[in-house]
Amino acid sequence: MESISALNIAGLPKIYFGAGKFPELHTIIPSFGRNVLILTGGESLKKSGRFKALALQLNQAQVKYKVVSVWEEPTTERIDAIASEFRKMPVEVVVAIGGGSVIDFGKAVSAMLVADGSVKNYLEGVGTKKPSGTKVPFIAVPTTAGTGSEVTKNAVVCDRKEGYKKSLRHDAYTPDVALVDPELTLTLPRHITIACGLDAVSQLIEAYTSINVDVSTDSLALKALWGASESLLPLALGQSNDISLRSKMSYAALVSGIRFSRSGLGAVHGIAGPVGGLFPVPHGIACGKLLFPVMTFVIKKIVDEKNITAQKRFADIGKIFTGEAGGDDIFYCKQFLSTLDKWTRTLKLPQFSRFGMTAAHMEKAIALADSKNSPAILSKEEMKVILEVVR
Ligand SMILES: [Fe+2]
Repeated sequence: MESISALNIAGLPKIYFGAGKFPELHTIIPSFGRNVLILTGGESLKKSGRFKALALQLNQAQVKYKVVSVWEEPTTERIDAIASEFRKMPVEVVVAIGGGSVIDFGKAVSAMLVADGSVKNYLEGVGTKKPSGTKVPFIAVPTTAGTGSEVTKNAVVCDRKEGYKKSLRHDAYTPDVALVDPELTLTLPRHITIACGLDAVSQLIEAYTSINVDVSTDSLALKALWGASESLLPLALGQSNDISLRSKMSYAALVSGIRFSRSGLGAVHGIAGPVGGLFPVPHGIACGKLLFPVMTFVIKKIVDEKNITAQKRFADIGKIFTGEAGGDDIFYCKQFLSTLDKWTRTLKLPQFSRFGMTAAHMEKAIALADSKNSPAILSKEEMKVILEVVR
């Protein structure tokens, strides 16, 4: 029987979740102030007319706003440039409306508006200064369903010149508000829907089976895994306009962020991290591609090692994926793997070589990779076998 583990629960944002919630944003913003910096990503929000409606409502409420478009991944240079431009202005609240990168941009800018110097100084493993945790209030509005960044305490920042991706992290950098409206994801292109969905699913699986068990979010995670498994393939195969499916995936992404903030992630992310830092494979594609081969090794190891606790956790997921009853844990572990195999074959994700992965990249990625909080530690030889399969 599992014991009750120690808990380390950081705060959550105030979460507004549901289809049709976006129009409430103009009533939430003024509770933090009347001078707003809005960061947005692509054009879809503007084309949909949603941004025009928000702008009108802010004008009517006499809320002053500035808009900055951010297209790329958050880089140290761009965060520094935005922060130094807006430090001179009275910004009382930062709002980020976009995918995971835009939310991470907003998170980092909200922190750096009240910090000195470059964000580089505060990055884990790079800088020498500790983040203070002081920030301008921050509202996250995701338009994709994947990273769960709307509820996490870190922003992933990359430095192109130095070639790294590192986190700016502090409990207090968790957004103050996460407004999650699945309607915003209805117009996402298929490849982004798939990549983001695979990221959310990988995060949920790895966080639910992590050695850092967090019983307080178990039931949330299992319900989110059910929703993700119900919606991943239908969304990819033509039902992208179904708001019920979109809601299940947005919920999965949201809960994945809540869960992995507490439990951490596993070997899929332990390999996908360095892989994404070395060449431009989309994070969700990297996770999705690695999921089946990594989990095949993990399941084999936990069975060989008679790790009953881990088997039970994977069996919980297998049960949800199949909807069947009556088998034992080993049976459901196999069902779990066969579901991942079916997703892999159906989605036909591209090999990493399509994104420029070379043999040299592979060696570097293996050297940097780790198994994070996976219940089975993968050896460098096993990682090599896995990367040869997906290269
Ligand atoms: Fe991820």
